[in-house]
Amino acid sequence: MSILICPVCRGKLNISGKNYICPENHNFDIAKSGYVNLLLSKHLGKTVHGDNKLMVQSRRDFLEKGYYSPLRDAICEKVKNGVILDAGCGEGYYTSGVSDVLTDSEIYGIDISKTAVDYAAKRKKNIIFATASVFHIPVEDNSCDTLLTVFSPYCGDEFRRVLKKGGTMIMAIPSEMHLWELKKAVYDTPYKNEVKPYTLEGFGLAGKKRITYKFMLDNQHDIQSLFSMTPYYYRTGQQQQERLSALERLEMTADFELLIYRKV
Ligand SMILES: C[S@@+](CC[C@H](N)C(=O)[O-])C[C@H]1O[C@@H](n2cnc3c(N)ncnc32)[C@H](O)[C@@H]1O
Ligand SMILES: [Zn+2]
Repeated sequence: MSILICPVCRGKLNISGKNYICPENHNFDIAKSGYVNLLLSKHLGKTVHGDNKLMVQSRRDFLEKGYYSPLRDAICEKVKNGVILDAGCGEGYYTSGVSDVLTDSEIYGIDISKTAVDYAAKRKKNIIFATASVFHIPVEDNSCDTLLTVFSPYCGDEFRRVLKKGGTMIMAIPSEMHLWELKKAVYDTPYKNEVKPYTLEGFGLAGKKRITYKFMLDNQHDIQSLFSMTPYYYRTGQQQQERLSALERLEMTADFELLIYRKV
């Protein structure tokens, strides 16, 4: 039984051949790779955009090399069997990690970027992927045991609506020193990341873990991949970009905050 609902009328969606269909006959194609497009154009924000092809490919290349596997392992340690939704799943690196350690679960991933979801769907067939916004999640109320939000936009109202009472939200955010050396290499006066207070309306903080380690980027390709998957890439002038192009090695700090919340 799927928890997906129609983004137009909010009726339950069922699979019929190569489509999802609701009782009002709204029809949504399942793409060749296996994801379903549930994103209505009116739900595409004016200011919030999905990641473009370059960002998706860079993140995929970078993550596949395992640089963030300690974070993936830490997330996998926290998930339990049940209905799981990865909200802002990107190309499914963490979603698929979770699906590898769970034996009896129903797993969903949504993202606003079609390129990202298309790649995610090609990677894993036992996960249901859809294009959709975290601000209009096409799943039923109180249907998820766990929601993952990993470096993705936060929508408290929607996350509380879709989680069951007592359900768990696992959130990963960059901590103070994350990618410090990258910022130091590019900017004259780099700033530490600001970590906001942990309090979130409707949630109780049930645990937190800081994951900090160093890793070595020993080639231009990986340095550029990391840079292009960050927001800094789009805020940086040519001169600053050239500083990075001259480097063959760069030791980097990974600094994450893994936060576990319960819906109250
Ligand atoms: C930094 S990436 C993180 C992706 C993935 N969780 C990961 O860590 O590999 C942020 C993701 O949020 C997605 N995104 C941005 N706005 C969104 C929205 N309104 N609804 C759903 N996804 C969104 C982007 O397309 C991108 O894939
Ligand atoms: Zn409908």
